[in-house]
Amino acid sequence: MSTFTMDTSTSRATPSPVPGKRTTVPAIRGRKANGKTEQPIVMLTAYTMRMAQLLDPHCDMLLVGDSLGQVIYGLPSTIPVTLEMMCNHGAAVVRGSWHALVAVDMPFGSYEGSPEQAFAAASRIMKETGCAAVKLEGGEAMAPTIAFLTQRGIPVIGHVGLTPQAVNVLGGYGARGRETREATKIIADAKAVDDAGAFCIVVEGVMEQIATDLSAKVAAPVIGIGASADCDGQVLVTEDMLGLFERTPRFVKRYADLAAEIGQAAATYAAEVRERSFPTADQTYRPK
Ligand code: KIV
Repeated sequence: MSTFTMDTSTSRATPSPVPGKRTTVPAIRGRKANGKTEQPIVMLTAYTMRMAQLLDPHCDMLLVGDSLGQVIYGLPSTIPVTLEMMCNHGAAVVRGSWHALVAVDMPFGSYEGSPEQAFAAASRIMKETGCAAVKLEGGEAMAPTIAFLTQRGIPVIGHVGLTPQAVNVLGGYGARGRETREATKIIADAKAVDDAGAFCIVVEGVMEQIATDLSAKVAAPVIGIGASADCDGQVLVTEDMLGLFERTPRFVKRYADLAAEIGQAAATYAAEVRERSFPTADQTYRPK
């Protein structure tokens, strides 16, 4: 019997401190059995090595979300995000983590054209980052692509409901599924993604009842964001929950107020530089 345990971090320049212990796709998929998840799955976004190091001990999964377009690059939406950006940040997050499963978002325009285009982009992401999975947006229309990828060794996380890459079609970032027709379509999307082989499904910005119904209907774990506490897990954009932005969406709970702390630290530093009270002897090299 083989004793080999897959660990994408052990072959990298910075070996894992605990080789072989990285959370696997089957482990995440197996957290939901007979329609139930005993312990909800914890997921947060990460875009940098240091943030990954800080979040890793607490998370089952780290998502290198294309939300990095707005959060890191100050772009107006996720639409301009490139494969290169996702690969660079994905590799940094894999280097900064050893326990969580790292998934990387496929950026807009890199997978919608055809299953073959999606395979080329996803395999590049996996080769260049060492991540274990990719995430892509879309329901029924993307099901053949999800099946194509999973059958060829690429684990996929689906993403239904509010799909930010479709902002120009949707007309904004408002919650989805207020009308019955749209609610029915979101549930059909989740079912299609589930049947296609996604090992978990992100459901974003939907009426709570949709998330509850949908979680009960699909076999894969459902990770909610602006969805329902009944989902099999939750994800948030880390910078939102750390209070790094002035405006946070309704579904975000602020667990810290880092913007205020950073502002305070920068103001104290600036004052000390201006009055020459920094650096002091403690921060200065002098002959022994
Ligand atoms: O890009 C992202 O960060 C995401 C999460 C909000 C689920 O897709």
